Amino acid sequence: KAFQEAETRGWHLYLVGGAVRDLLLADNEGQVLLEDIDLVVDGFHRSADVGAGVELAKALQQVYPAARLEVHGQFQTAALLWHNDPDLGSLWVDIATARTEFYPYPAANPEVEASSIRQDLYRRDFTINALAVRLTEPRAGELLDFFGGVLDLQSQQIRVLHANSFIEDPTRIYRAVRFAVRLGFEIEPQTERYIRHAIASGIYEQVQGKNGRAPALETRLKSELKYILQAPYWKAALNLLADLGALRCIHPTLELDKNLWWQVRLLARCLRRFDAQKSLEHWQMRLEVLIAYLATEYRGKVANNLQLPTDSIARLQNLDKAQFEVVENLPKCEQISKLVQLLRRYDLPTLILVAVKNPRFVRRNIWRYLTEWRNIKAPLNGNDLKALGYKPGPQYSKMLDVLLAATLDGVVCVNEASPQEIR
Ligand code: CTP
Repeated sequence: KAFQEAETRGWHLYLVGGAVRDLLLADNEGQVLLEDIDLVVDGFHRSADVGAGVELAKALQQVYPAARLEVHGQFQTAALLWHNDPDLGSLWVDIATARTEFYPYPAANPEVEASSIRQDLYRRDFTINALAVRLTEPRAGELLDFFGGVLDLQSQQIRVLHANSFIEDPTRIYRAVRFAVRLGFEIEPQTERYIRHAIASGIYEQVQGKNGRAPALETRLKSELKYILQAPYWKAALNLLADLGALRCIHPTLELDKNLWWQVRLLARCLRRFDAQKSLEHWQMRLEVLIAYLATEYRGKVANNLQLPTDSIARLQNLDKAQFEVVENLPKCEQISKLVQLLRRYDLPTLILVAVKNPRFVRRNIWRYLTEWRNIKAPLNGNDLKALGYKPGPQYSKMLDVLLAATLDGVVCVNEASPQEIR
């Protein structure tokens, strides 16, 4: 339908980006599940056709009323979304007008102008993402490879199309790492030099909200970080980012030294042990450990720039206080009940951050609290107290607290077979 709608208007329609790359990477037998499809329209002659992508999306939505239509004015793109459709499943189709981008200054948000498919592909990040398949006649099915993308897919190289690519968009450094690790490709040596040059020239400062810029770049960095830190290959990607000096995009002082690497690995163990049900956002905890490694005065600002949720920002800002209280008071807790009273003031992510940042004594106690002591309950509840003849009232919570403390400290034993029997 999309092809017909485009053809009747005299336009060409192309499949571009990740879908083409993934189709070419799949072996002949293999099937690719495309959930995210990018289409580009070109071949128009009137400037009014700048909105061709949006017009086509609107026409398609008439044909497929089940699809939701979203229009993004700034870049003249539209998206059609199917959610749990009986025929299509969940599918996201972006339709854009072929465009050229101008970067008014390095790392700026691009300004956009309609153009041909070749120019549209030239503005993209890597040769392997700059391939297109023509979907409309004549020559429907033809593969457009202007920049050697097929060869790079075969030789497994991540290669930029031009020298300024990372200066214009520093988040592409993270994308290069993501694709390299995910696909098992190599960052081509000249491309690696461009990355190192961009970082050496201080491009990372642009990502940190300097020059009063709009936060669009930080949003893109956050979404790249999320992609990387939630993927199964996150450790390899983090190492490669560190090797390229790219962690400076998070903060100029951030380095993956031995100590931070140890903390990151400890975190992985903590999350496996204490959050197997994934109630926490694991990618975000990884990012929090990186941010918590920075000097205190930077943490809040970095978390803010990366638009982390407010509870995460507050946790990072108050981490020193929590850490001080725990480290100072833990050795004074002579009974387990006192230790439980101390640690239950903090939420799980705070305890995990304190555990990974501190020596064995602190870590062991937090570990035992999380695995054993926090699960111990008082042997009686309010109903039991009532049944034993105590008058209900506020004293119940005090009595139950005393009972819990006594149980934790081993002063009270419960007969499992007959819980009412307490010694
Ligand atoms: N793109 C780019 N520069 C960026 C982000 C995106 O040039 N900073 C281009 C790439 O050509 C990419 C396309 O926009 O192929 C779509 O972006 P995205 O959906 O993020 O990437 P995919 O290649 O589809 O990757 P994935 O399979 O991970 O979704």
